[in-house]
Amino acid sequence: MSRSSRLQGFYNRTLEERRAMLADWLGLPAEAVNEITSGEVFRVELADVLVENAIGTFALPLAIAANFRINGRDRLVPMVIEESSVVAASSHAAKLLREGEGIVARATEQQMIGQLQLIEVPQALDLAELLARNESELIAMLNANHPRLGAVGGGARTLEARRIDDGSRRWHVVHLVVDVADAMGANIVNTMLERLAPRLEELSGARVHLKILSNLSDRRRVDVVGRVPIALLAPYGESGRHVAENVELASRFAEVDPYRAATHNKGIMNGVDATLLATGQDFRAVEAGAHAYAARNGRYSALSTWRVEEEALVGRMTIPLAVGTVGGMTVLHPAVNRILEWFDLTRARELAEVVAAVGLAQNLAALLALSTEGIQRGHMSLHARNVAFSIGARGDELEALVASMSRENDFSERYASELLADLRATHG
Ligand code: MEV
Repeated sequence: MSRSSRLQGFYNRTLEERRAMLADWLGLPAEAVNEITSGEVFRVELADVLVENAIGTFALPLAIAANFRINGRDRLVPMVIEESSVVAASSHAAKLLREGEGIVARATEQQMIGQLQLIEVPQALDLAELLARNESELIAMLNANHPRLGAVGGGARTLEARRIDDGSRRWHVVHLVVDVADAMGANIVNTMLERLAPRLEELSGARVHLKILSNLSDRRRVDVVGRVPIALLAPYGESGRHVAENVELASRFAEVDPYRAATHNKGIMNGVDATLLATGQDFRAVEAGAHAYAARNGRYSALSTWRVEEEALVGRMTIPLAVGTVGGMTVLHPAVNRILEWFDLTRARELAEVVAAVGLAQNLAALLALSTEGIQRGHMSLHARNVAFSIGARGDELEALVASMSRENDFSERYASELLADLRATHG
């Protein structure tokens, strides 16, 4: 696995050439890549099976972020996203973060939490004591129904008691902690909770109200660190150190101000969600978990921090990531299935590590742009393509319009239409 993820000139190639380069990188025949990337493998029949009232399918761009080195390994990263500049920004930041091992990402155990809400609890009940006394029997009962999970090293692990008080009412909560291995885990945990509830009612005399997984999957996190040598930042400003200090300043703003933190984290989620979508994940679950985690200390804050440390700009982030590489979309969606295989993302831990690395890289790209020339210049030259396309420019016309709009710093539809009319008049 010594392939380099630095695909020279990938951005400047045509779509067909990029597919051919990818096939070459993967060691596959071009037809295999063409088939999956054609957008035609997700059939309308599958849509009809997956959701109610289906009327069709709906496509989004699939792209590749280049230049990533994660845990010492070069990787290309699949991304599904409609927003211009995200893929380019990711690849750009990945280039800055390549030194040594590259981005270092470490996933914790793959533990999910399920919640039971206990109401009508008898006065004398000591829930913690009851759970401690019955834990092994209850855990064994749950695991007996999930031999396949046990066979891959997963299974229910512990039961924990919590008390919650909303000011007017109090109730007890049981947390069931389950190692879900390579599954996303929602189905496993919810099934276990529904089995646990009646037995717990019997033992406690209480009534179980809600039985549901928590999306604050804070026992299934990734710690990720990225380092940029200060010297590499010199081209972005008056000196590399000055640029690095400005990125730190941007980070500190997000760490203390929820208004800025929301946008800072949105930049992270641009990378996270795009990779989640390309790999068939429940991105809503990850979004919910990430933002709840960002508020874990009572105030919503930045998920990542950037600091100047000696000769490097260092980014650190911890993010909960509940992802799965078995079941659900990973099996059903023919493109997802193949993408996981192509990019060697068949273990949940590894997928989570890659997703976190992309989030951190995306964050660096945004802070770097915001701390130097501002976000609009790069963004608008990419946006120019959308404007030119929307007013009817195609092929060479598209490139000519983008060049003129960027040069004149005018991205309006009116200007684009004038340019297109002139171009067509000149070239007959
Ligand atoms: C835009 O999609 C994301 C950014 O706003 C993130 C940020 O401000 O850090 C550029």
